Amino acid sequence: MRGKFITLEGIDGAGKSTHVEWLAAALRARGRDVLVTREPGGTPLGEQLREIILHQPMDLATEALLIFAARREHLARRILPSLAAGMWVVSDRFTDATFAYQGGGRQMPFERLDVLERWVQEGFEPDLTLFFDVPVAVGQARLRAATASPDRFEQEDPTFFERVRAAYLRRVAEAPARFRIVDASRTVPEVRKQLEVVLSTI
Ligand code: TYD
Repeated sequence: MRGKFITLEGIDGAGKSTHVEWLAAALRARGRDVLVTREPGGTPLGEQLREIILHQPMDLATEALLIFAARREHLARRILPSLAAGMWVVSDRFTDATFAYQGGGRQMPFERLDVLERWVQEGFEPDLTLFFDVPVAVGQARLRAATASPDRFEQEDPTFFERVRAAYLRRVAEAPARFRIVDASRTVPEVRKQLEVVLSTI
């Protein structure tokens, strides 16, 4: 039986990276075989592209194309084969992040991203997406506390992250059945309680 594809999303500082391994462990405790992965990245080529995307200044269309190139590699070589083998795949970010950061944050027209999404994914999408929602001020405070050398995205100002968050919420409104919103402004144990509720429904 095909496994499920679960993605975690949120602005920088929302805390999803704190929860991804816990979520995988909770799924394993329920008897699932789980692959944890991330975007940009997830394959040797994808991780090389990640370094470039996060640190090298570039044209916005180039950025979007490299992100989708890394995604295609990730899909073709890891995500789809793992799902076909019955594994569950949990990814720290996926295409909603491109609509949020390149579309919302950097203001690339969503229609251009729609084309790339269709081209690369051919209709494929996550079974479930957890959106870790947090006010921008809270995310920024967590980032400042946790990040010594911020990447190109983490260096953006609060108005950028307001646009990123708004674009995420637009994605949620467009596909409410795929998303669960997690109140990520809470403490780690409180967020885990919310995740347990979500897990009991899948
Ligand atoms: P992030 O997932 O926050 O990893 P870490 O916790 O290690 O910092 O970092 C990835 C960054 O890449 C994040 O700032 C958002 C950005 N990004 C995009 O701009 N577009 C995308 O499509 C993806 C997947 C990520």
